[in-house]
This record gives sequence, C-alpha cells and structure tokens, in this order.
Amino acid sequence: MNSAISEPTQFVTINNERFRVFITEEEIRKRVLELAREINKDFEGRTPIFIGVLNGSFIFFSDLIREIDVDCEIDFFKLSSYGDAKISSGNVKLLKDLNCQVTDRDIIIVEDIIDSGLSMDFIKKLITKQKPRSFSVVTLLYKSDCVKIDFKVDYIGFQIPNHFVIGYGLDYAQKARNLRAIYILDK
Ligand code: IMP
Ligand code: MG
Repeated sequence: MNSAISEPTQFVTINNERFRVFITEEEIRKRVLELAREINKDFEGRTPIFIGVLNGSFIFFSDLIREIDVDCEIDFFKLSSYGDAKISSGNVKLLKDLNCQVTDRDIIIVEDIIDSGLSMDFIKKLITKQKPRSFSVVTLLYKSDCVKIDFKVDYIGFQIPNHFVIGYGLDYAQKARNLRAIYILDK
C-alpha cells in the first residue's frame, strides 16, 4: 500500500449530485509548495500576519503555513456569503473578526477560492482602513470569469473555469470539506 498519497476516489456524490476529481492531492501539494517558496522569498526578513478566511481556507491554510519559514503570526476571519447554495449570495457577513492589530503590519490574506471577489473586496476594505504596512492576497483557486471586482491577487494556485468545486476545505452545504482532492460538478 502506498502510504504517502492514497488514490482519490474518481467520483463522489453529495446531495445527489455527482462530482469528479479535478485537481489531485499531489497537484495541490506541489502547487502549495511553490506558493510557499514564493512567499518565503518575498517576505524574507519580515514578520507577516497570515489571515485565514474561515471556513473554506482551513486546510489550504494549514498546509501552506507549515511550508512558511519566515517569522510569522496567524489569525482568522470568519465570513459567510454562500449559505447552502452553489451561487454566492453576494451578501457578505462578518461572523468573526480578527484578534490582532494590523496597523503597520504585513498582512497576507489566505483564501480557498475567489469567485465573485465580493468577499475579498469586503476584507480589503476592512483591513486597509486600519493602514497595514502591506496587503497581499493568496488564493488556492481563482475563477477568473467571475471576478467582478478590480483588485490584485498576488499569489494564485490554480485558475479554474466557472464551475462549482468542492473538497480540500471547500464545501457544498457544509459537506465535502474533508475530501483530499478538489472535485468539480460532473455535468
Ligand atoms: P466570492 O465572494 O464570490 O469571491 O466567494 C468567496 C467564497 O465563496 C469563497 O471563500 C468560498 O468559501 C465560497 N465559494 C466560491 N466558489 C465556490 C465553489 O466553487 N465551491 C465552494 N465554495 C465556493
Ligand atoms: Mg471562503
């Protein structure tokens, strides 16, 4: 048995809808390492605060942060915009605020996915009001067709088409976050 990486199941069914593997565990691991290397280089000698956006980013966040070798701190936001649907409500709510001071600090927001961009726009406004030293964004997935907001995303794991995806932290009505790979709706 290969204990390092198990073969992902090719299909999963959640709420009677079928999803197929889209990005494998191995591809994710490789890309997370590349992103961490870039961030380590860019923030050498600094002490950034990595801010995860809950719930979706929790697995990406924990994999990424363990590859970061500059001094750093962490904190979390909790936002809600999707409810149980597959389309963002566009109505972003702050469910948990930060516990840290961001003024004069290097802030790195860690997201699972940028879809409409409304959540990130909300976060950017909230953080930049408090005058950080720098503001950067890392997202594992980026749906470029969808983004309605004009802002820079500094580190992107994978650009993906405008389809609903689950797994590796991303949910469908709170399910499927525990899947090791990223799955896409199989039409
Ligand atoms: P945005 O505000 O539309 O950019 O959406 C951001 C949030 O919606 C992400 O942080 C995710 O939690 C969630 N989201 C967006 N697209 C998907 C998807 O395809 N699957 C699961 N969650 C998603
Ligand atoms: Mg999210």
